[in-house]
Amino acid sequence: MIRLKEVGKVYQTDAASTWAVGSVSLSIANGEFVSLVGPSGCGKSTLLNMIAGFLAPSAGSIEVDGQPISGQIHPGLGYVFQKDTLLPWYTVHKNVALGLRFRSVPEARIRSRVAELLEMGHLTEFAGAYPHQLSGGMRRRVALLMSLAVEPRIVLMDEPFGALDTHTKTHLHRELIEIWRKLGQTVVLVTHDLDEAITLSDRVVVLSSPPSKVLLDERIELPHPRDVFTVRQSEQFLRHFRSIWSVLGQQFRAAA
Ligand SMILES: Nc1ncnc2c1ncn2[C@@H]1O[C@H](COP(=O)(O)OP(=O)(O)OP(=O)(O)O)[C@@H](O)[C@H]1O
Ligand SMILES: [Mg+2]
Repeated sequence: MIRLKEVGKVYQTDAASTWAVGSVSLSIANGEFVSLVGPSGCGKSTLLNMIAGFLAPSAGSIEVDGQPISGQIHPGLGYVFQKDTLLPWYTVHKNVALGLRFRSVPEARIRSRVAELLEMGHLTEFAGAYPHQLSGGMRRRVALLMSLAVEPRIVLMDEPFGALDTHTKTHLHRELIEIWRKLGQTVVLVTHDLDEAITLSDRVVVLSSPPSKVLLDERIELPHPRDVFTVRQSEQFLRHFRSIWSVLGQQFRAAA
């Protein structure tokens, strides 16, 4: 579904040019859930932006659905940005409905679909609120619902749960697993939360400090369906945590 071959990205500023992404090779199968973890500044957002087609790689190639990415954005793509991108002059309801409006979905269907999504995100009573009236966590939830509204086949998420409290986060993990199992989407999730990565993913990929490369690509052997509230207590979960942390922790220490 998504294939990165020796992908690199150099950022040019007046003073210097820096390779943010060194050489990343990675294949993600249709319907797979893959998390990217690594120290801050190792190029995770850059990689996601290149997969989406927002940024061109400086080296290597990216294919989605067997087609090279070259400036055009895949029609089945959903993206949750690291910085939320709600329209400030639209209510929560109108923000979530935006993608469906673009696709000319009939009004009645939009209303029922948005109501369903708001309920899932525990935001029903805020349907008429504007983004500036919401907490940071609520804004993240709206951003997540916006991207799920159009049922994308590929979902790229850049720290979608970063600012949330553990309680809300765990509930959203459960919802996300359910949606993913129902729709079979291909998901690439960038996160700083290793518990979250292991709970949700088929594979966790650890990137090095820049110029980044893949240091570890670990398959998560936890059976589905996963109960997000108990999975963290299993021996297998702890084995994964230790094995990934032994690589990731070193990168954090090096970056510090
Ligand atoms: N537009 C840009 N121009 C110049 N340098 C950039 C630009 N965007 C990102 N960088 C640099 O590239 C590197 C990777 O940035 P990126 O945002 O992809 O990292 P990240 O892994 O997503 O970090 P974080 O975990 O903090 O979100 C950083 O050193 C950053 O300063
Ligand atoms: Mg980032």
